[in-house]
Amino acid sequence: HKIIKAGLLGFGTVGAGVYKLAKRQKEEMESKTGARFEITRILVRDRNKERKGVDPALLTDQWEEIIMDDEIELIIEVMGGIEPARTRILEALHAGKNVVTANKDLIAEHGRELLDAAEEHGVDFLFEAAVAGGIPIIRPMKQCLAANEITEVVGIMNGTTNYILTKMFEDGMDFEEALAKATEYGYAEADPTADVEGLDAGRKAAILSSIAFHSRVTFQDVYTEGITKISSRDISYAKEFGSVIKLLSVAHNTEGGIEVAVYPMLIDQNHPLASVRDSFNAVFVHGDAVDDVMFYGRGAGEFPTASAVMGDVIDVIRDIQYHCTGRISCTCYRTTKIKDFRD
Ligand code: NAP
Ligand code: HSE
Repeated sequence: HKIIKAGLLGFGTVGAGVYKLAKRQKEEMESKTGARFEITRILVRDRNKERKGVDPALLTDQWEEIIMDDEIELIIEVMGGIEPARTRILEALHAGKNVVTANKDLIAEHGRELLDAAEEHGVDFLFEAAVAGGIPIIRPMKQCLAANEITEVVGIMNGTTNYILTKMFEDGMDFEEALAKATEYGYAEADPTADVEGLDAGRKAAILSSIAFHSRVTFQDVYTEGITKISSRDISYAKEFGSVIKLLSVAHNTEGGIEVAVYPMLIDQNHPLASVRDSFNAVFVHGDAVDDVMFYGRGAGEFPTASAVMGDVIDVIRDIQYHCTGRISCTCYRTTKIKDFRD
């Protein structure tokens, strides 16, 4: 069997999950793809940090050791943030290496540039884990629903805030305590402001809208409002009205243009989205041919996210095996008016 070698950038919540899942699935992956998969280098910021279950010889803080290694055909970027992730990924694509990432911040702002680089070099650039953690949503939208005119994408796209709201609502937990737990479980971003201010959900809404509406929607086009102003009094009022509060991402493609927003909303306790609890996410999509489709599952955390990343990795391995990398990364957009939600 051919050996496919990868460099893993980041060994935090997601990186550790990817490493463990790759180890656990070693034989299965080999029989599914006909190739052996090996993570041969792991880039971290601090090599001296104590890390369990990983061979310390794999760790490096030198990117050059990875990018200069011609045997590495795949880079898995799970460091997060815009820089140096953007530069590292561009360098990898330009060097003809395939890239898998979970980095929504980067895709929402620089997705076009990265997709263009992947297309130019005929390599895969995949990011299933960037939206809704373990839920398959990017690929279904891009491939399975490609024959539809999609007009609506609505849902809960942030696990941290959904966990916080669930705990405030069901257990009377206060905001800070619930956020601390979400951080402990690995749901929250390195800077949780992105979660609680609705920025993370806004980035995911921009990515999904771009794919769903076949247009270029960036994070700057999305109106965002978070959950930091929600008090225990608001929770009591919601209960009195037989409702719950959820942080919703709402995207519509109408004749007047595309409108994308994230904001907390009161929804009836019997609404399907009300039963989406803890770190779970759910996304409703309306297409002209398929009608309504709903996606549901764990939106954050070590193994759910690793599941999405490793699904992409397996696709890359298959593409390398069949000499067809670059096939699913190319994307063309049409120009559509983007409306300001507040107008
Ligand atoms: P994390 O726990 O903060 O881990 C980040 C890792 O990247 C750490 O190992 C860190 O090294 C390393 N790193 C950061 N900056 C670096 C740099 N400049 N050079 C070298 N290494 C660097 O983050 P995470 O939760 O795993 O998230 C990673 C990415 O996945 C983010 O883009 C996030 O948005 C995305 N994501 C996360 C989840 C989730 O549930 N957590 C779900 C979906 C997507 P040290 O260990 O040495 O500090
Ligand atoms: N911080 C993100 C969330 C991770 O809570 O949804 C998954 O993208």
